[in-house]
Amino acid sequence: MDLFEAARAAWENAYAPYSGFKVGAALRCPDGSIHAGCNVENVAYPQGTCAEAGAIAAMVVSGRTKIAEILVVADSPEPVPPCGGCRQKLAEFAAPETPVTLAGITGETVATTVGALLPGAFTPEHMARADP
Ligand code: THU
Repeated sequence: MDLFEAARAAWENAYAPYSGFKVGAALRCPDGSIHAGCNVENVAYPQGTCAEAGAIAAMVVSGRTKIAEILVVADSPEPVPPCGGCRQKLAEFAAPETPVTLAGITGETVATTVGALLPGAFTPEHMARADP
């Protein structure tokens, strides 16, 4: 199964009764394993989670913490980009040059990277002087 297929399958199962906007995401780890997620909304709106967060959680549950590539899919006029919070979440586990594919449900794609989506990311290096 490729990344688009995995994200498309996750998109099918997205739980989005409040926005009506389903999102699927699938990421590949350096070992080739694929982990998918979908958005999961909640009647208490801020408790909803994004597809990217679900895919990251699935990856971490599997014992992996490095993203080699990620694809996000939705049925939108333009291929959907990760929200601001998800960009920071991706930056936690991906290098700036990590490919990100934004996909439409019928297969159209836009290619970008984690670094292009989140220039100037806050990183652990910024906390070098912290003394926890
Ligand atoms: N959504 C995602 O799952 N990922 C994004 O990066 C953009 C937004 C979801 C959250 C919410 O369930 C719906 O799309 C509408 O904002």
